[in-house]
Amino acid sequence: MARTRPIEPPAAPLTDGAVTLRPRRESDLDAIAAASRDPEIRRWLDDEPMDEQARRTSLARAEEAWRSGTAAPLTIADAVTDEPVGLINLQFRGDAEASVAYGVFPQRRGRGVAPRAVRLLAGWALADLALEQVILETDERNIASIRVAEKCGFHRVGTRVEATGDGAPQTLVVFALGGR
Ligand SMILES: CC(C)(COP(=O)(O)OP(=O)(O)OC[C@H]1O[C@@H](n2cnc3c(N)ncnc32)[C@H](O)[C@@H]1OP(=O)(O)O)[C@@H](O)C(=O)NCCC(=O)NCCS
Repeated sequence: MARTRPIEPPAAPLTDGAVTLRPRRESDLDAIAAASRDPEIRRWLDDEPMDEQARRTSLARAEEAWRSGTAAPLTIADAVTDEPVGLINLQFRGDAEASVAYGVFPQRRGRGVAPRAVRLLAGWALADLALEQVILETDERNIASIRVAEKCGFHRVGTRVEATGDGAPQTLVVFALGGR
């Protein structure tokens, strides 16, 4: 469910001095396409590998997500070099709640990039968009992602089981930050 209110990207890029969250750019697309074929990204995120058609429409789809209030897709960039190091997105569930999803490019993992990005985006959503809570759902076997939730101060709400394309049910751990 999209927001009923329009959504604008942050007036200035969100940064903590180590990573910056900014709108996606044409120059990010080679790295995004390569990451879309990474086995860990394939395993834990729903996205398909980026083909030529998806690449051509990628920036327009991101802009449309902002415009329609369905999602807030951003690039995680190195704050010093501006190189893309990962992706993060908020998917809105109406005006009060959104779920956060993220991926860090393989060579950049293990250095705290995702926790920094999630803290920045969740902080912006709760303070500037006045959301009541940010949800983070991750497969119960995705230890790295569960660590991200814990490091960002999310509290565990419970679990839910979801059907997947290949028929095997998937158990997701549900975390929340904010809270009503
Ligand atoms: C989950 C993910 C985003 C974490 O990003 P990150 O920037 O590496 O996060 P951190 O540096 O805080 O590391 C988190 C955990 O990853 C694991 N880790 C550490 N080094 C690692 C490495 N080089 N490679 C992979 N995982 C590593 C550890 O369990 C670490 O927890 P710890 O700090 O308690 O030891 C990243 O592994 C990723 O992109 N995975 C594939 C996509 C995915 O799972 N997205 C989340 C879907 S809900």
